[in-house]
Amino acid sequence: MKEQLNSIKDQAEKELSGITSIQELENIRVKYLGKKGELTSVLRGMGALSAEERPIIGQLANEVRSFLEEKLEAAKNELVSKERTARLEKEVIDVTIPGKVKALGKKHPLSIVLDEIKDVFIGMGYEIAEGPEVELDYYNFEALNIPKNHPARDVQDTFYINENMVLRTQTSPVQVRVMEQKKPPIKIICPGRVYRSDAVDATHSPVFHQVEGLVVDKGVTMGDLIGTLQVFAKSLFGENTKIRLRPHHFPFTEPSAEVDVSCWTCGGNGCRVCKGEGWIEILGAGMVHPKVLENCGIDPEVYSGFAFGLGVERTAMGRFNIDDLRLLYENDIRFLKQF
Ligand code: DAH
Repeated sequence: MKEQLNSIKDQAEKELSGITSIQELENIRVKYLGKKGELTSVLRGMGALSAEERPIIGQLANEVRSFLEEKLEAAKNELVSKERTARLEKEVIDVTIPGKVKALGKKHPLSIVLDEIKDVFIGMGYEIAEGPEVELDYYNFEALNIPKNHPARDVQDTFYINENMVLRTQTSPVQVRVMEQKKPPIKIICPGRVYRSDAVDATHSPVFHQVEGLVVDKGVTMGDLIGTLQVFAKSLFGENTKIRLRPHHFPFTEPSAEVDVSCWTCGGNGCRVCKGEGWIEILGAGMVHPKVLENCGIDPEVYSGFAFGLGVERTAMGRFNIDDLRLLYENDIRFLKQF
């Protein structure tokens, strides 16, 4: 039995020296130390030994067991560390390899211009207001001094949800909503989407964007309006930009004006972009009509105000020299990448 134990020890040691994987190591462990392992079966046979032999063989068996356990443990540690070294070598990162470039999108030209417009007016102390795109006829027309059958409704034909509800044709109804809620001083801009039943062409779209402006306080004058629009025009179109007001009619302002800026391409000499005029129309404006103030519960004897409304598409087309409005909606990445 002694010999058997010694040969188990030698045999196991020899087998362990040649292993290359944890699985092989496990196989050896089971083969010798497992429930049906060789050492285990020797130990089981000890019952047949004499009382003198038993402690001697027992001690030897325990020594062999500890010896094997130690060897197994050492072999395992070596395997694990070898494996780790191999893995680390395989996983070496070459920090000099150029990174993968992520294709980032770009801000849409309409968003660029809208953000610029917001920046200018926020810088002058304006707040942003919003209103619904599905709007009551009352706010879109009636309260703005455009009663049913008024000819001004003709150029703002729109999509009717029902007799009293429309897709708003302008951002001007937000003026009314704000004035109903808040008493002067009021200083807001309202950016938003508007709708008209227009066919698509190079300068028209049934859906487009406007920014409305409204200032109401004691003693607000046309001079304030002009100064404000000058700051706006210079910020967006360059320091040398001039503005020009032409008398016009809007039912909700009195007096009213259409506002032109000196051509961003030729500076006012006349060119293809301004069709030889030197000026390009960018917005409508005026002093808030006393009737509109009254409709909102603001006393026109005490307060006055100015308002303006500008088209974001038109401004973007000017700012970036885009000659066809449809390009703004086609989402052709080659076009959008340019801005
Ligand atoms: N809402 C007008 C339009 O869509 C633009 C406009 C003109 C707005 C004069 C105003 C204004 O606030 O005072 O044609």
